Amino acid sequence: MAMVLDKVVPFGRSMDEYIKIFNLTNADLNKKIIGIGDGPASFNAEMTRQGKSVVSVDPLYQFSSDEILQRFNEVVDNIINQVKATSNDWVWSYHKSPDDLRHNRVKVMVLAYLAC
Ligand SMILES: C[S@@+](CC[C@H](N)C(=O)[O-])C[C@H]1O[C@@H](n2cnc3c(N)ncnc32)[C@H](O)[C@@H]1O
Repeated sequence: MAMVLDKVVPFGRSMDEYIKIFNLTNADLNKKIIGIGDGPASFNAEMTRQGKSVVSVDPLYQFSSDEILQRFNEVVDNIINQVKATSNDWVWSYHKSPDDLRHNRVKVMVLAYLAC
């Protein structure tokens, strides 16, 4: 069964996920970084907390942090329920389960929101 996402879904990744996805080294992280399409990821917030330099660009930022958080809260249960219904289609080596995925996405959203 396919997942259906018929509206904008602000689901963001963490700094740890960015490091793993892009194979970022410490030397990379100490450069000036521009994140194109960072959306609601917490990469910028976590990097900034560590004194590092990231500028994020995303059309999502036309919305306020409250609006992005509200949109996330509106869609998260639907998405996680769809993931649960298709759980055999996903690899659970990083996020351990649909509920763990939810927990991690909420954590990212809170980190990003608090930084705004
Ligand atoms: C799947 S999300 C990924 C968010 C983030 N990179 C992450 O991994 O958590 C894709 C993001 O790309 C943004 N996007 C779409 N078109 C774009 C554009 N033309 N320039 C910059 N960002 C764009 C969307 O608004 C959305 O936030």
